[in-house]
Amino acid sequence: MSAATMPATIAVARKRHAELAAEIAAHDASYYEEDAPTVSDATYDALRQELLEIEKHFPALAGAESPSQRVGSTPSGKFAKVRHRVPMLSLANAFDEEDVRDFLGRVRRFLNLGENDELAVTAEPKIDGLSLSLRYEDGKLVEAATRGDGMEGENVTANALTVKDIPNQLKGNVPKVIEVRGEIYMDKADFAAMNARQEKAGEKVFANPRNAAAGSLRQQDVKITASRPLRFFAYSWGEAPELPADTQLGVVEALGNWGHRVNPLMKLCKSVDELLAHYRLIESQRATLGYDIDGVVYKVNSLDYQTRLGFVSRSPRWGLAHKFSAEQATTVLEAIDIQVGRTGALTPVARLKPVTVGGVVVSNATLHNEDEIARKDIRVGDTVIVQRAGDVIPQIVSVVTEKRPRGAKPYEFPTTCPICKSHAVREERASGKTDAVRRCTGGLICAAQRIERLKHFASRSALDIEGLGDKIIEEFASGGLITYPQDIFTLESRDKKSDSRLEDRDGWGESSVTNLFGAINARRNVALDRFIYALGIRHVGETTARVLARAYGSAGHFRDRMIAAGDQAGESWQELTSLDGIGDIVAEAIVDFFDEPHNVEVVDALLKHVHPQPLEAVSRSSPVADKTVVFTGALERMTRDEAKAMAERLGAKVSGSVSKKTDLLVAGPGAGSKLKEAEKHGVEVIDEAEWFRRVGNPS
Ligand code: IVH
Repeated sequence: MSAATMPATIAVARKRHAELAAEIAAHDASYYEEDAPTVSDATYDALRQELLEIEKHFPALAGAESPSQRVGSTPSGKFAKVRHRVPMLSLANAFDEEDVRDFLGRVRRFLNLGENDELAVTAEPKIDGLSLSLRYEDGKLVEAATRGDGMEGENVTANALTVKDIPNQLKGNVPKVIEVRGEIYMDKADFAAMNARQEKAGEKVFANPRNAAAGSLRQQDVKITASRPLRFFAYSWGEAPELPADTQLGVVEALGNWGHRVNPLMKLCKSVDELLAHYRLIESQRATLGYDIDGVVYKVNSLDYQTRLGFVSRSPRWGLAHKFSAEQATTVLEAIDIQVGRTGALTPVARLKPVTVGGVVVSNATLHNEDEIARKDIRVGDTVIVQRAGDVIPQIVSVVTEKRPRGAKPYEFPTTCPICKSHAVREERASGKTDAVRRCTGGLICAAQRIERLKHFASRSALDIEGLGDKIIEEFASGGLITYPQDIFTLESRDKKSDSRLEDRDGWGESSVTNLFGAINARRNVALDRFIYALGIRHVGETTARVLARAYGSAGHFRDRMIAAGDQAGESWQELTSLDGIGDIVAEAIVDFFDEPHNVEVVDALLKHVHPQPLEAVSRSSPVADKTVVFTGALERMTRDEAKAMAERLGAKVSGSVSKKTDLLVAGPGAGSKLKEAEKHGVEVIDEAEWFRRVGNPS
């Protein structure tokens, strides 16, 4: 921030400081607690930078409440807390070469070094992940903790043990106690593949590899963590009474010898020019590195110097993070295309004149939704600034209005579907807010929705029809062989009667056709939850489908009750919304689906060919069979998901809230409102130990 824009009085500064603090806190919450950032790193850094500048001029504003005094997040409460014996702090940022020179100048002055005295500093990539502290006692991993707020993090030991890069046992001659610190992250390619799987399965997709890493590590079900491609680089340490070397480089080398992965791009530099040259080298490799980095970290090499330099506020005086500027480029927006998804969402995509952004050629960018286009006033023909900030999908940051061609008109978002011409509307939410997404109302009339639904229907997590992938579906759909899901099951009999047999087509032969029909026939007896998921109802992912399958038992019953649930005053609606994990939004989406006659026709037609199987039999003889159970508070012997699965296996219905219909509340420490509610309704309350006493120890 230049002096010209610095507030002139403390009153003005206080106001701006409060605005910045609130904005930073909101971004922190979405970033740390929901693993879903709302702004780019560069924007976030600019806000923090402005706040720090104001505090430099008005130190009275740098109180304990200021974001400048906090590092990271407060622990979320999902995991047990761990107090860091040595705080996990953060590094001060530098944004240009001058900041780096200032840093070295400060260090030299502090240590009283003469101009000719050597000052060796390491330079290494700043990995864009999340930091983790791993405590080893006698070489064995005993505790893993996230940074949290720097003082107290979350205990993620069980999760860390599943990460292949993290040795459970250090090798060689290791000290009695050492806390190894480093970064958990995800390779870009692994991230893209994982997100594709998540999307197909109707599960959460992550904005970038860093959020995917955070979301994957902080899972209560460690099996989920184990299935995610997490990686780890060691670069630092916490409590370490005996260190194996007296330099930064020496200790990091020892971490490598003990079995940790350390970054090969770490280099010892003897001058500022050498540091900056290494910065530029790392920056030039950024695009091809395989994982996201957002800068270069400098650390004074001598540990003796590090001790003498110590800390100022929440950062070490001996370290600096030299951030990269966001990767941006200017190009021309040639067109805005509208894609229509499975649920009818119209998604605008920017088609750009191809341009290289940080080493990657970009020709498409996301435009999010129509509000975003209007807010940025993006017009076809505009010169735009594109940014690739760690995220895989590039974004349009802004328009260079000076370069706007004469006559460029504000973009009019279509109000009809570009594929089927049906009305496209923005729904009003129950909250009164209008949905950001405009949707085609054509349902199955819309070819785009039909094809996307067919792909979903046959996909791995749905019917899982081997050999009926996206490409083949497109081929069959465009050739008129398959229009609706039920057509898949009549394909073989129609083919037998046809004069243009499938096996005579290009790319097909007798055996591939036999295999395909075999795969289709094998799925006529599919599990009910897969069948429900395959219908492609909005908001109904695999988990919700399982809840519905368990609750309704058969496809016919499910169909009838969902049609009846259209009456929101009736019992079926009540029943649906009382199911665990099914709130109003999901329930409304299901009801809307069955309110559409086309959809019911598809379900009925499908049920002539497919025989959905009820889920594995649940016990009817257990002490909790047919009881409605609620779990609350902290559970020690099982995760919430395990508790739920166990209760369901034992024939109980698990609900998320207590009502007079609840039979049993299992309350752990910290139980609050649900416990009160249970007492009010006279619901029986037991603790976890009593739960195990009653049900035995089935696991
Ligand atoms: S050293 C006192 N080295 O950047 C902090 N940090 O703001 C010492 N990071 O919390 C940290 N790569 O999550 C260090 N090579 C690296 C790093 C690195 C990424 C992260 C780390 C830390 C933050 C610093």
